[in-house]
Amino acid sequence: IAFGAPKRAPAWWRGRREALLAIAQQGTPRYVYDLATVRERARSLSETAAVDRCFYAIKANSHPAILKAIAGEGFGLECVSQGEFERVFATLPDLAPGRVLFTPSFAPRREYEAAFERGIIVTLDNIEALQRWPEVFRDRTIWLRIDLGHGEGHHEKVRTGGVAAKFGLPMTRFDAFIEEARKLGVRISGLHAHLGSGIEDPNHWRGVYAHLAGLADSVGTIETIDIGGGLPIPYTPEAPQFDLALWRDGLAEIKSAYPRYGLVIEPGRYLVAESGALLLTATQTVEKDGVRRVGCDGGMNALMRPAMYEAYHGILNISRLNDGETAVFDVVGPICESSDVIGRGRTLPADTREGDVLLVADAGAYGMAMANTYNLRALPAEDVIE
Ligand code: LLP
Repeated sequence: IAFGAPKRAPAWWRGRREALLAIAQQGTPRYVYDLATVRERARSLSETAAVDRCFYAIKANSHPAILKAIAGEGFGLECVSQGEFERVFATLPDLAPGRVLFTPSFAPRREYEAAFERGIIVTLDNIEALQRWPEVFRDRTIWLRIDLGHGEGHHEKVRTGGVAAKFGLPMTRFDAFIEEARKLGVRISGLHAHLGSGIEDPNHWRGVYAHLAGLADSVGTIETIDIGGGLPIPYTPEAPQFDLALWRDGLAEIKSAYPRYGLVIEPGRYLVAESGALLLTATQTVEKDGVRRVGCDGGMNALMRPAMYEAYHGILNISRLNDGETAVFDVVGPICESSDVIGRGRTLPADTREGDVLLVADAGAYGMAMANTYNLRALPAEDVIE
């Protein structure tokens, strides 16, 4: 299989070729999620001694079975819209409101009101909302999202700090926010920062904790420090495995320096990316000016990440696992955009052809969540393997 060395345990889909081909017969594009992988990743984080609470960022994948699996591991759920928190309560009606965290960006006033009515934790990241809607926030308890001045992550478009990013209260307005909150009787019980997504340095989060803990000491009412999500997964065959042990040790060390605060994380990708594969069916193979392309029935409509971030996803022809001749293909979709590429320069069986099923790996995070109906293509289907 021309697909690079296996990472940690072999992916769940290895050895399940027949089953996946059978599932693909029900129609593609189709996402398939393996819940055992989700649970394993969830445990690997919740077993971290220094972490007091984990919230899963459901924007990565809000499939009800995934929400149930992760909540079943004791996680809370982090939401960025009313649509997301309504999905959570529709799926898990008995979930305690304190296990839901609302961290919106430029949300309308009515979503904050709905969140307070639900009794879920609300994070605010600007002073203007307090000034404009004092009656919404008066006497409430909130968390405050800070912009630490710079972003991190796998692509410029996922970095959420610094002047160019719309998120977070800049440090220059910190004192003014505290003053405004005091006037309204708003109690700030948590400090939050999320600098971006797909951050490779395991020491990043301890640095965020240290920074926020220093600030928290000056506020006096802080109980919780939320150091965001952003844990990476290795998409390319060369990518190193994230050093979870180093990450844990760093958090343990910094937590012992500032033991007063509950430490919260809110990962998305790490929990679900590797649990999901996207199955596509080849439609045509075409050679043009020396470039061979295999076209599929789903492209940037089904999986936006390569077009949007030049993200890499492994691609495998599961209809032809032969040791025969290979050829290099661009794997493309059916959308009328030149950016509609799932992978460039991929080695696949030379006889890859119409009807073959291609598996696009590590597509469980921000896959279906970002799928769309551009060109009036139908949304992908979804299946869950229990
Ligand atoms: N917390 C906040 C406040 C966030 O904005 C995000 C992601 C997360 C947690 C979870 O981040 P994660 O652990 O998944 O990295 N569509 C992009 C990723 C955008 C992430 C947006 N915010 C991608 O496909 O790479």
